[in-house]
Amino acid sequence: MTYENKWETVEVKVENGIAWITLNRPEKRNAMSPTLNREMIDVLETLELDDEAQVLVLTGAGDSWTAGMDLKEYFREIDAKSDYIQERIRRDSCRWQWQLLRMYSKPTIAMVNGWCFGGGFSPLVACDLAICADEATFGLSEVNWGIPPGNLVSKAMADTVGHRASLYYIMTGKPFSGQEAEKMGLVNKSVPLHQLKAEVTELCHVLLEKNPIVLRYAKNGFKRCRELTWDQNEDYLYAKIDQCSHRDTEGGRAEGLKQFLDEKSIKPGLQSYKRKKTA
Ligand code: COA
Repeated sequence: MTYENKWETVEVKVENGIAWITLNRPEKRNAMSPTLNREMIDVLETLELDDEAQVLVLTGAGDSWTAGMDLKEYFREIDAKSDYIQERIRRDSCRWQWQLLRMYSKPTIAMVNGWCFGGGFSPLVACDLAICADEATFGLSEVNWGIPPGNLVSKAMADTVGHRASLYYIMTGKPFSGQEAEKMGLVNKSVPLHQLKAEVTELCHVLLEKNPIVLRYAKNGFKRCRELTWDQNEDYLYAKIDQCSHRDTEGGRAEGLKQFLDEKSIKPGLQSYKRKKTA
């Protein structure tokens, strides 16, 4: 499937099972404008139905991942618009940056190649995994231009980073590096920029080998865990296992048990069962 020039502010290429989504406003440091937010809803909904896109990678054109919300088009210009338009524009940004990405049916990886500020933290944390460049610069810059972090930026920090570091960066607005982001658990790993794409591609290949249905329920099950009690979790996660068996056309569970218990051909602690891929 080719998506060449389908969207004005986002570029999408699907190659070997990987959908490379590039926020594409480098001259504005990929700031998230109302147009970009609306287009990203369409991008995510389109790729969900594209069988060739098995793993999604979200990155940015030029030297930025994203400089956050567009201070001109999302804030200043919208201030003058009607209340209904403001609501709609906010809803569009939440729709893709958080709701769609967070529980997306395919694995998602944030590949942070450069500047990542403010509103960018919502899609960053909503992606399942994140790999950044050592050279990337992160910052909760809202306090520097006169607002507290909005949307789900602070919630994203609270979910991934400790109390002290979160408040330090929220209150000082100081920038931090890719390596610091790794240390505080905001990303999985930080690597030199020239290795970033290779590192992410390798991770994509690990995920592409796994049973996609199992991956979906494993990641979404984990994300819901935070909001449920222990009793609810027990019931919910067992229900996910049942749902997974029901939806899994590859019969992964039976195959994995057979390969370990009967054929003795795998050690699940060390490697995946060998998938029998269906058409
Ligand atoms: N919203 C709107 N426009 C933005 C933007 C944003 N968040 N970030 C950058 N831009 C625009 C600039 O206004 C400039 O536009 P112009 O060429 O029409 O003047 C262009 O992108 C280049 O920005 P510039 O500041 O010159 O680039 P830089 O490489 O020197 O610095 C940043 C990059 C990201 C450090 C700097 O642009 C910045 O601090 N941006 C704001 C980040 C922020 O606070 N985001 C939080 C929003 S919630």
